[in-house]
Amino acid sequence: MSFFAIARLLIVAAVAGGSAWSANGPANAAMMQDNIERYRVEAKALGQGFEAFSAERGRILFSSSPAAGKPDTPSCTACHTTDPAGVGQTRAGKEIAPMALSRTPDRYIDVKKIEKWFRRNCNSVLGRECTPLEKGDFLTFMASQ
Ligand code: HEC
Repeated sequence: MSFFAIARLLIVAAVAGGSAWSANGPANAAMMQDNIERYRVEAKALGQGFEAFSAERGRILFSSSPAAGKPDTPSCTACHTTDPAGVGQTRAGKEIAPMALSRTPDRYIDVKKIEKWFRRNCNSVLGRECTPLEKGDFLTFMASQ
């Protein structure tokens, strides 16, 4: 790809990203909060003394390397990169948009999408499903990024 083709792609991406945020940002942020709220209800219902979600615990989940699932995915960062604002990569080499809400504002709004990927990715990395506490912590961290 030529330099100009790449530059054009970057500009198109920047413009699309910017307008998505200004047009839908507040509505998306509210939908994301609804999803965090749903995990709060689930976490409370477990009766394990839930108090509040923690961005710090979410950061630790994101950056730790439990290596308890599949050998080629020891951590969330194996695909999502260590920087929440960075572009990730699937095992097959396909790009994954940044996980940070500020970088990809249309994330974390669709319950089905969130649940599908939590189920899949937590099993790959942790060898089990994530708990409502882990999901809420993770979203709380990404909302702050
Ligand atoms: C094998 C690669 C891989 C690993 C490892 C991985 N993910 Fe993902 N994740 C993806 C892909 C691919 C998507 C879907 C594409 C997208 O949303 O851009 C995704 C999407 C998600 C989503 C949905 C985001 C949304 O827009 O609603 C969440 C939440 C998520 N991942 C959390 C995690 C967590 C937590 C971990 C670690 C426990 C993790 N992922 C590890 C590849 C991975």
